[in-house]
Amino acid sequence: MISFEGKVAVVTGGANGIGAAVAKVLADNGASVAVFDRESVNDSRHKAYEVDLADQSALEVVAKKVIADLGRVDILINVAGMCPTNMLLDLDVRLYEKTLAVNLLAPMLLMKFFGADMAKRKTGRIVNVTSIHGKLSEPGAAAYDASKGGLEAVTRTAALELADLGILVNGVAPGFVNTRMSVVNGVSELESEWFKNIYQENARLPLKRASEPSEIANAVAWLASEANTYVTGQILTVDGGLSSRF
Ligand SMILES: NC(=O)c1ccc[n+]([C@@H]2O[C@H](COP(=O)([O-])OP(=O)(O)OC[C@H]3O[C@@H](n4cnc5c(N)ncnc54)[C@H](O)[C@@H]3O)[C@@H](O)[C@H]2O)c1
Repeated sequence: MISFEGKVAVVTGGANGIGAAVAKVLADNGASVAVFDRESVNDSRHKAYEVDLADQSALEVVAKKVIADLGRVDILINVAGMCPTNMLLDLDVRLYEKTLAVNLLAPMLLMKFFGADMAKRKTGRIVNVTSIHGKLSEPGAAAYDASKGGLEAVTRTAALELADLGILVNGVAPGFVNTRMSVVNGVSELESEWFKNIYQENARLPLKRASEPSEIANAVAWLASEANTYVTGQILTVDGGLSSRF
């Protein structure tokens, strides 16, 4: 397994789901992990920073605090996200702006703050968790689709701008993942007839199952590690083959 011994990592959304799995794999392999979340963090190995990522002014304050507390940041993993349903004909502008603030602007600001710190040592790794919604759209998901498509574009821009500073920037795009984000109105879409009929029985999803958060975290971890020396500006799709089928 890859070593993160001596590395300091920031993981947003690390209190639950994919973010918690990313924080776990990094800590299991030696990293000191700071979690940015508005919910409480269960793993006592991590240093928790309570922050609402929609609050732009709070982000710089908390970023400075992490560097003061832990000395530096070597790895940034932007995982936190929200996925509201809102049809375009009922467009709720405030909801749209909040989704963009959490899913797109917060990762950009954290890349700005921590990228500047990584640049001092001319080394760093950044991984942004996007979604297959970065390339494929769904009715009712305009804000989410825009935010994830935007985050994929910005991942490439950041890779170009930060390359000379020794910082590699990539994205991981999950498909279906077994987290609470898959629960709508108290029902997991992964248990629904819709998922079983279309994705499992009709093989729209070649691997016929959702992933576990750890399967996404393992892909993130490799891109964030020193084993990755030459991959930058890429989006690694981890979706069980979902987006490969015509
Ligand atoms: N679950 C899926 O099927 C799936 C698929 C593709 C992509 N993703 C992406 O993976 C990421 C993680 O999703 P998940 O499934 O683990 O969801 P989750 O709800 O289990 O975890 C999201 C975490 O982000 C935190 N968070 C959300 N908004 C925040 C805010 N404003 N300020 C601070 N913290 C905030 C939550 O508190 C939570 O701990 C998201 O970006 C999501 O878009 C998820």
